[in-house]
Amino acid sequence: EKGGHDYFMLKEIEEQPGALENTLRGHFHDGGIILDEQRLTEQDLRDIDKVFVVACGTAYHSGLLAKYAIEHWCRIPVEVELASEFRYRDPVLGRDTLVVAISQSGETADTLEAVRHARTQRARVLAICNTNGAQIPRESDAVLYTHAGPEIGVAATKTFVSQIAANYLVGLALAQARGTKYADEVAREFSALAAMPEAVRQTLGTVDQMRALGQKLADSKAVLFLGRHVGYPIALEGALKLKELAYMHAEGFAAGELKHGPIALIEDGLPVVVVMPSAKGRALLHSKMLSNIREIQARGARTIVIAEEGDETVRPFADELVEIPAVPTLLQPLVSTVPLQVLAAEIARARGYDVDKPRNLAKSVTVE
Ligand code: M6R
Repeated sequence: EKGGHDYFMLKEIEEQPGALENTLRGHFHDGGIILDEQRLTEQDLRDIDKVFVVACGTAYHSGLLAKYAIEHWCRIPVEVELASEFRYRDPVLGRDTLVVAISQSGETADTLEAVRHARTQRARVLAICNTNGAQIPRESDAVLYTHAGPEIGVAATKTFVSQIAANYLVGLALAQARGTKYADEVAREFSALAAMPEAVRQTLGTVDQMRALGQKLADSKAVLFLGRHVGYPIALEGALKLKELAYMHAEGFAAGELKHGPIALIEDGLPVVVVMPSAKGRALLHSKMLSNIREIQARGARTIVIAEEGDETVRPFADELVEIPAVPTLLQPLVSTVPLQVLAAEIARARGYDVDKPRNLAKSVTVE
């Protein structure tokens, strides 16, 4: 049933191209984005002047990426908030606020309570969910299902990439309704998304390399993850995977924050995973990140660099270079997350842990 794999998570990692295809399928018709359930009018969508994204864990990391896309395409301010914090601070909500609740299970208590709170304040709620008919979509005004298929591993993998794609579809739907993007631009962005299953398929070529690396890093005390821009949420996600599966101390940082504290953690042999920004798309960030890698390497870090194929500038600074396909900047998280998932799973396995059922965790967290 694990399809010849040592653990479900690996099977689900390999299912990511198909999961993405399923998320995209059926959500683009007649030149426009469509949702699965839509109880909001076009006018409601046009009136939205503020977006909150609420979610937990990995879904929250996908939400951080929603901010880059929605602000870029729609020019509406977006705040991303942990669902468990949201309602307790009395956020400013109203009829023109859209709350996007992201939840694979659709049953996460913190996210559900955030949705309920938003509704008492008359905000509009849009759910992104992987489970048909779950409680969160039932209590929402609009729903986009990710259709990634059931996920057995406690660690979210294919549902994460599907959530990222779904967030981008919501961004395009809003841009379309508000007129901040013309139909041909929406179609262009959608076809860039539609090319991603193939790019993720290519990225699976890193699985063997990451498994071998995982074996080598199994005795590390800790691992740090650095990213910038859309690579930052991926650094956070890489660290979360390692914590939950390998029970290893792991932290993700925005690389620009290094000199404000975390660089003090760097010591001889400490593995640091760096998600390199696109060389062409984000040249300025790319060169800043190169300096960051130099700084940490000079202090003894063992650098593991996830970079675009053909990015020769990083080679001298990478103790291990992991090549991913070059894709548009906003879409890079869909490929850069894959090697980090495999790394965490394999370190966990090398340490003798059950990758699919990490200790103390449940697939669906139905208590606050
Ligand atoms: O079902 P949800 O998407 O609402 O779950 C949210 C988190 O509990 C979940 O993403 C958790 O962080 C994963 N186990 C991480 O791999």
